Amino acid sequence: MKVTVVGAGAVGASCAEYIAIKNFASEVVILDIKEGFAEGKAMDLMQCASLNGFDTKITGVTNDYSQTANSDICVITSGIPRKPGMTREELIGINAGIVKNVSTSLLEHSPNMILIVVSNPMDTMTYLAHKATGMPKNRIIGMGGALDSARFKYRLAEALGAPISDVDGMVVGGHSDVGMVPLTSHATRNSIKVSEFLSEERLEQVAADTKVGGATLTKLLGTSAWYAPGAAVSGMVQAIACDTKKIFPCSTFLEGEYGLNDICIGVPVVLGKNGIEKIVDIPLSDAEKAHMQASAEGVTKTNGLLDL
Ligand SMILES: NC(=O)c1ccc[n+]([C@@H]2O[C@H](COP(=O)([O-])OP(=O)(O)OC[C@H]3O[C@@H](n4cnc5c(N)ncnc54)[C@H](O)[C@@H]3O)[C@@H](O)[C@H]2O)c1
Repeated sequence: MKVTVVGAGAVGASCAEYIAIKNFASEVVILDIKEGFAEGKAMDLMQCASLNGFDTKITGVTNDYSQTANSDICVITSGIPRKPGMTREELIGINAGIVKNVSTSLLEHSPNMILIVVSNPMDTMTYLAHKATGMPKNRIIGMGGALDSARFKYRLAEALGAPISDVDGMVVGGHSDVGMVPLTSHATRNSIKVSEFLSEERLEQVAADTKVGGATLTKLLGTSAWYAPGAAVSGMVQAIACDTKKIFPCSTFLEGEYGLNDICIGVPVVLGKNGIEKIVDIPLSDAEKAHMQASAEGVTKTNGLLDL
């Protein structure tokens, strides 16, 4: 199993590290445009191998796509992150050009790859990769919901005073501060609906804190977060590589599901060796449906800024 990670920055390196530590991939190639940067990150990570007990071979390359040839899974993390006060949508000017070039260069050398898009604004970048490469929709997947759901579970556990392992919950919709739809009606603590434990007001606060989860960290760190994004990507890569059929909310091209068309947005999907193996259509409450519709309108508006 060969995995390529484009972008050796904060998220790319964290993602490569978690993939290596989980020890399911034989090879990880990290590619960056900055001379020597990916080589340095790869060497540093390889020097963790004996300490952390993994055998994954990690190599770094400067913009040499021939070294990525025949990758099974490729991850795009290249592009600029937001600074405090910025929205993800404001990154489109620079990141669209990067994602278009990177996705087509990857495809040239790995025609059978499954592509995971992380760069922001992620739903629009996933849509762009879909249009730029013409790849089948099951092989282009955007990462946002896996991270947002982890943040939702963190906030739910905090409100419940429960261990995170006792909590389940999912965030669908667009990966933006206003677009995220935390599914409070489906969230549970050990199979019991969280509404049995938390008031409507407390649940609304949990949802609000979840939606600004990225912005909260960006304010604290001065740039966007990387540990949980890297862990979220590695979880998706592992589900595909090991054909686990786990369900993650992912951004995928919709053709009628959830009443939406010609858009990439977060919905629950089954991940396995073919990438997205099934889109899971679940019933939403009226409020969640309205929120999902508004979220889709926001993503469509951002997609309109693309030069396709
Ligand atoms: N989808 C999500 O949930 C999520 C979460 C966190 C961050 N992000 C996004 O991921 C992206 C990366 O964030 P980061 O914190 O790692 O940024 P970073 O600045 O630390 O790293 C980005 C890297 O991309 C490289 N790069 C730029 N152009 C390139 C190109 N054409 N080819 C190859 N490499 C190139 C840069 O040299 C840099 O090393 C941002 O767009 C950020 O907004 C998304």
